[in-house]
Amino acid sequence: MRRFKTTIVGAGNVGSTLAQRLVEKQLTDVVLIDRVTDRGEGKTLDLQQSAPIIGFDTKIIGTHEYGPTEGSDIVVITAGFPRKPGMSRDDLLKTNVEVVAEVTENIVKYSPDAIVIVVTNPLDAMCHTALKVSGFPKSRVIGMAGVLDTARFRTFIAMELDVSVENIHAFVLGGHGDAMVPIPRYSNVAGIPIPELLSQDRIDALIERTRNGGAEIVSLLKTGSAYYAPSAATVEMIEAIMVDKKMILPCSALCEGEYGIHNTYVGVPCKLGKEGLLEIVDVRLANPELEMLHRSAAQVREQSAKVDSMLAEMAALRKPSKKK
Ligand code: NAI
Ligand code: 2OP
Repeated sequence: MRRFKTTIVGAGNVGSTLAQRLVEKQLTDVVLIDRVTDRGEGKTLDLQQSAPIIGFDTKIIGTHEYGPTEGSDIVVITAGFPRKPGMSRDDLLKTNVEVVAEVTENIVKYSPDAIVIVVTNPLDAMCHTALKVSGFPKSRVIGMAGVLDTARFRTFIAMELDVSVENIHAFVLGGHGDAMVPIPRYSNVAGIPIPELLSQDRIDALIERTRNGGAEIVSLLKTGSAYYAPSAATVEMIEAIMVDKKMILPCSALCEGEYGIHNTYVGVPCKLGKEGLLEIVDVRLANPELEMLHRSAAQVREQSAKVDSMLAEMAALRKPSKKK
């Protein structure tokens, strides 16, 4: 029987933790690739040597070349750079557009039928980049952020109420950034909407903490960003696709009219199965929620327009100049 194959591009914190989670769960064979020679190779050798102790037979290959990634069913893009001191958001956007564009070209070349899960930030604009460069249908280019943002909201609600996190379902829409839109009336504890259990002040505080969830961890770690919860969130998406679960998870997907949003990647509830994105679940929203979602989508659109200009510049630079 053919085994499921997942490539993870970027053997940094998110990529290597994701590799560990996938092989330990025996979900899929994994190829871990990094542009830095021997980083993927070293991490996978270490992981392989944990197999006799943990007890897994899943194959894992480390590489800095794309050959071994050939024919992957899923490719997760975690390659990229964090913002450095003195770097603007636009500087980061430019750097990571170049990385994601290069990675996507290799995905098209080596795994033309793969489903691509984008993790690299700025998330929604990087999904736009991968879609444009790959020419894949939108069902095969999805972004991970909503599962993470929702998990953060669920964690904070559980901590506030001192109940099991498993009791909590939460609903977070919008781009992965300060303008994300947690929706309290669709968030519940054992079926009870949270406005029945918490005051508006407390809900507002939990929303604010969720919006700043990534930044809170960066300020604690000082040398990097979150990776345990982001890798767990990516596993949930991979499992939903592999097992054809038809599970509804919040993901970044290209909206083409859903929620009144056009041609923009933004976090929305997505049904995931073996073809990737099967459907965007279009829930009726009222104002101010809808307004907030549209504001968040407008921010993503602005970044995506910059991505288009950057991709056009990159294409122009590659064209051989005409002889006089
Ligand atoms: P990291 O710095 O630990 O790892 C990034 C890796 O990518 C490095 O090993 C680097 O060598 C590699 N890389 C860079 N360019 C490459 C290329 N062209 N080809 C192959 N590999 C390349 O970073 P970390 O913590 O793993 O985060 C990765 C990305 O994911 C960042 O952009 C981060 O902001 C983002 N992120 C997004 C989340 C989300 O919710 N969407 C959550 C957490 C992180
Ligand atoms: C996070 O939310 C950095 O986007 C990443 O943790």
